Amino acid sequence: MTSTVRTGGAQAPSAPEFPMPRAEGCPFDPPPALKKEQEQGPLRKVRLWDGTTPWLVTRYADQRALLADPRTSADITRPGYPSSAPVRGSSFSFILMDDPEHARQRRMVTAPFTIKRVEAMRPAVQKIVDGLIDDMLAGPPRADLVQAFALPVPSLVICELLGVPYADHDFFQENSKILISRSAAPEERGAAHAKLIGYLDELMGHKIARPADDLLSGLGTRVEAGELSRREAAEMGVLLLIAGHETTANMIALGTLALLEHPDQLALLRDSDDPKAVAGAVEELLRYLNITHGGRRRVAVEDIEIGGEVIRAGEGIIVPNDIGNRDPEVFADPDRLDLGRDARRHVAFGFGVHQCLGQPLARMELQVVYSTLYRRIPTLRLDAGLEDLSFKHDGAVYGVYELPVAW
Ligand code: HEM
Repeated sequence: MTSTVRTGGAQAPSAPEFPMPRAEGCPFDPPPALKKEQEQGPLRKVRLWDGTTPWLVTRYADQRALLADPRTSADITRPGYPSSAPVRGSSFSFILMDDPEHARQRRMVTAPFTIKRVEAMRPAVQKIVDGLIDDMLAGPPRADLVQAFALPVPSLVICELLGVPYADHDFFQENSKILISRSAAPEERGAAHAKLIGYLDELMGHKIARPADDLLSGLGTRVEAGELSRREAAEMGVLLLIAGHETTANMIALGTLALLEHPDQLALLRDSDDPKAVAGAVEELLRYLNITHGGRRRVAVEDIEIGGEVIRAGEGIIVPNDIGNRDPEVFADPDRLDLGRDARRHVAFGFGVHQCLGQPLARMELQVVYSTLYRRIPTLRLDAGLEDLSFKHDGAVYGVYELPVAW
């Protein structure tokens, strides 16, 4: 069907800016302009901050096909890569590498994230969740849920797994926030990255000297064996530390807000003691909220014919999984939060070789949180107007900065 295939950039001169602004209205929905692009066609051109015009892949099926296509690269240093901000001049470990090096490094850290190992951590996570709720209930009947609960849960868990002292959480949470923010100046992000690398490198030194039973010590052993440089190990530590707490924390806070705004759905979750129903609810919240905004970014390394277009080698590709998860071809009535639907096909964890390494852990943490918090604090309510909340429009991970709640 090559006769219907157009080549590169037919709509480029009028390409809309990406990321698109979020309009007033439902804070859980993708920007209306992004939905409009989806309605208009499977492949669209958008304009980035630097004037480049990569392809926007709007439909679920094409998104999965491209994310699984070895003719695409995640290497941020390749010409044509659609960078979300001025390049930091520093690597971000294997999330921005291609196979075989990506696979080699990823394999070094997969073991603790397997379903079996993650399930063994469930009682410890339940204890963390219960302890934080005990602390909330022991104090005044109001709190910022982000600080009191949403951030500590995944931070405590990933610290334990990596062997990072939780006492340093203010330092790494603050610098992670700057690093993933699009509005921070490049120098600011560079400084935050350098601080985190320096911190992980020093920690790696301690792990090499006195290994413990944790992931960073395992990486230390590989450094000693010459399989990984110390810099690479520190970069991997930064990736795991950030990915391990920022994402899940935002799912906890934004998920709670979405449920408070949909009391019928919250009641379903609170009143069910069926682990399968809770697991299903987690999948639907992941689909509906899809907190990784700004799209998965790739560059074509060969010509790729898809969606009636040809993506030329060297052209940038953006896969906004938030609208993939709202594709009406795949999810009926996609803008409705429906905890009873089967949402397991969502692309909130990405797809293909870079599909989220931590997904079993994230799922388990969210299952424990969502099945405990509203049951133990059944009167939990929002202690502010929706319009008073400040949303994270400027970063790679969407969420709320603060979530005032009362009970
Ligand atoms: C609800 C929580 C989470 C969400 C929504 C999420 C989402 C994602 C997405 C969309 C990707 C794909 C990136 C791409 O294709 O460019 C990804 C990759 C990754 N995630 Fe997660 N993530 C979550 C939690 C976690 C946790 C708890 C960890 C634990 C350390 C983690 C570690 C990683 C790593 C290491 C990668 C890179 C994988 C690779 O490049 O091979 N994530 N995540």
